[in-house]
Amino acid sequence: MTILGIETSCDETAAAVVKDGREVVANVVYTQIPMHKPYGGVVPELASRAHIEKIGEVAGEALAQFHARRPGEKLDAVAVTYGPGLAPALIVGLNAAKGLAHSQGVELICINHLEAHLHTPFLYDSGEEPQYPAPESLGPCLGLVVSGGHTNWVDIPEYGRYETIGQTLDDAAGEAFDKAAKLLDLGYPGGPVIDKIARTYTGDDFIPFPQGRPRDGVSVLSGLAADMCVSFSGLKTALLRYVQKAGGAQALEAAGEIPRVVASYQKAIVRALADRTATALKRNPRSALIVGGGVSLNASLRAALQKTCDKCSTRLFVAKPKYCGDNGAMIAALAHYRRNIAGRDAFAIDATPSLEVGGGK
Ligand code: KG4
Ligand code: ZN
Repeated sequence: MTILGIETSCDETAAAVVKDGREVVANVVYTQIPMHKPYGGVVPELASRAHIEKIGEVAGEALAQFHARRPGEKLDAVAVTYGPGLAPALIVGLNAAKGLAHSQGVELICINHLEAHLHTPFLYDSGEEPQYPAPESLGPCLGLVVSGGHTNWVDIPEYGRYETIGQTLDDAAGEAFDKAAKLLDLGYPGGPVIDKIARTYTGDDFIPFPQGRPRDGVSVLSGLAADMCVSFSGLKTALLRYVQKAGGAQALEAAGEIPRVVASYQKAIVRALADRTATALKRNPRSALIVGGGVSLNASLRAALQKTCDKCSTRLFVAKPKYCGDNGAMIAALAHYRRNIAGRDAFAIDATPSLEVGGGK
């Protein structure tokens, strides 16, 4: 199947054409990051307006690339993110996709953004050799979504079936990076800049920030094991106290302390993520760990997860950098495998801002 995928759940307006769930023929991403930068985070109203302005151009460009590269070939379906994400942003993509599916006379398929992140390692560009075997050949896998809004460990007993087995009780990993960068005046988004600065710290005198363990007595969502959950709010507070005690971000900067602080902070997040991953793999050995989401770009996290996987005889699957952030290719690709909301059901569906992994129909 050849599918056009549309993604507008947060701050990227994106469209792509993917063949048979893996081969990316066309891929266009317009990022709004420069627009949100001055505010230190995504402003939903601005995001929605920018999606409205750009979606026609972005989808048109993806279709033009597809027709130029595959003359005479036709689309079989249009796929779109229906959640989770910002409601006013999701609505723009859904409406555009409904219109496109209707005008092209093809099926509409609605896709869960988090599940799509877990498909990104399997994407490859036309003319390239795939990096990994087909997902349906892997057997049961463990998934880890680490993005700006989510941190979930997901059991995948067979490809296309998802069950959350662990998650954050408060901030997502990406959010923890973004909030720390804001506090330290390092800019937005925080993950890439912290990743870069942390690499410049060569010492081993790490600040002992809390390791993301939920405090005793904090209620964990029903059905989830406490040792499969993380909490990053204590870490954020510990950083705030550290900065205040040091006399503020500028004082830390003047003392040349920023690299040590961010390396220590990053280490706490990475340890928490690797630790829960190890717990999950020890409890239920899996031959593959599939990681998706913007935070999976983090070099230190990749190294820690590789170590964890080596110890558990598990193969690590991570996406090419360009498919780690939000994109339309992951939406088009997963739609080949996951067609639970298609046809009439898809036309009837509304944006679902708090959709969970494995949620929906
Ligand atoms: O998946 P994504 O592009 O969007 C969401 O669906 O949320 O993830 C964005 C998040 C941001 O919080 C950003 O700071 C984080 O991914 N991020 C990183 C890195 N690159 C992006 N976090 C840590 N290290 C990075 N290199
Ligand atoms: Zn995302």
